[in-house]
Amino acid sequence: MYKLAFIGGGDGSIAGYPHFIASQMDRRFEVIAATFSSNEQTNIDTSKRLNIKNIYKNYKELIENEKSNLDAVVILAPTPVHFEMIQYLLEQNINVICEKPLVSSIDEIEKIEKFYDENNHFLVVTNNYSGYPMVRQLKEEIAQNNLGKILHIRLKMPQESFLRPPKSIKYPQPWRLKDDFIPMISLDLGVHLHHLSYFLLGKEPSKVFAAYDKYSNYDVIDDVNILLEYSDGVKGNFWLSKTALGNRNGLHIEIYGDKGSAVWHQENPEKLQLSYRDGKMIILDRGGELDISNKLYNRMTPGHPSGFIEAFANLYNDIANGLDNYKQNKPYTSDYVYGFNHAKNGLKLLHNASISNEKKEWITNK
Ligand SMILES: NC(=O)c1ccc[n+]([C@@H]2O[C@H](COP(=O)([O-])OP(=O)(O)OC[C@H]3O[C@@H](n4cnc5c(N)ncnc54)[C@H](O)[C@@H]3O)[C@@H](O)[C@H]2O)c1
Repeated sequence: MYKLAFIGGGDGSIAGYPHFIASQMDRRFEVIAATFSSNEQTNIDTSKRLNIKNIYKNYKELIENEKSNLDAVVILAPTPVHFEMIQYLLEQNINVICEKPLVSSIDEIEKIEKFYDENNHFLVVTNNYSGYPMVRQLKEEIAQNNLGKILHIRLKMPQESFLRPPKSIKYPQPWRLKDDFIPMISLDLGVHLHHLSYFLLGKEPSKVFAAYDKYSNYDVIDDVNILLEYSDGVKGNFWLSKTALGNRNGLHIEIYGDKGSAVWHQENPEKLQLSYRDGKMIILDRGGELDISNKLYNRMTPGHPSGFIEAFANLYNDIANGLDNYKQNKPYTSDYVYGFNHAKNGLKLLHNASISNEKKEWITNK
């Protein structure tokens, strides 16, 4: 089992507990050390609850003491502090598994590029939504031309959290209420849609047009519309929102080809709806005959729903496979595991979206 340390992810955080469970679900990883929180008491309480003995006040102390025991470090701290942590960890040649977004800006990613060595460092980003089996099946449907020539793709991630915050945590956290050139909503949600669009289509848009809005009382962007054009004529759009009441996390994919279309909705993640030119509509589910196969997709037999945490665990299993490869000097990124270049393309797209929002014109995405 690979040995992990967590930075961040203390009790009361959003990402921490899902990572803790998902990383260890299939016995590929074990969390052996952590600095769970910048709050001392939360750090202690979380370590007691999760029974983690090797607990440190900060990440530098953690690395000084545990470096030789670790296979990778997982960054679950707020986005604005990812950069300093990645720099420190890569300089020490520590393998890094980082929550999305990798960093906050083009400036930061270009700084990382200066010390990141693709042939030596292990650096992956947890793009968890492509861990769902039915999203992976959709990728296969497209690859096998079952939808024909793709015409347009529609991805949305509307949430209600700025008007109706989740009751289980203190939300929004202060760091989510500060926008930089790429607004926080795009770093929070837009990177997921960039990832899914690339995951499904295998290409980046060549042009982007964006419009940002503020509807809540917080003085930050909370609603983003992005239009996309690809060099081969495919069109697309992203909608991100934190002010869309009724949407807890309305991640939704629609993709339209000239032979068929597909719809997937994360609140019903085991089903993929396909519609064809002859009028036939079918629902594929995890119990159907799928092109994708991995025994983990059926940890429990179909009919017993699996969801977000299991999808995250699928990704962790792929990351463990990536680590296996890395240790044998083979490529560690794959169709399911993405790293620096993908993160850079995502930030570039969202940066160009911000330029478009300012200039109110289409921007070439290069
Ligand atoms: N993939 C997903 O579905 C998903 C969901 C939520 C958040 N995220 C990402 O995960 C990251 C964390 O988001 P969150 O919503 O859990 O944030 P959060 O504010 O809820 O929690 C952050 C945690 O990190 C701790 N922390 C802060 N600074 C630290 C430091 N220097 N050292 C150690 N711990 C530190 C905090 O005390 C807290 O426990 C962000 O990058 C976010 O984009 C991803």
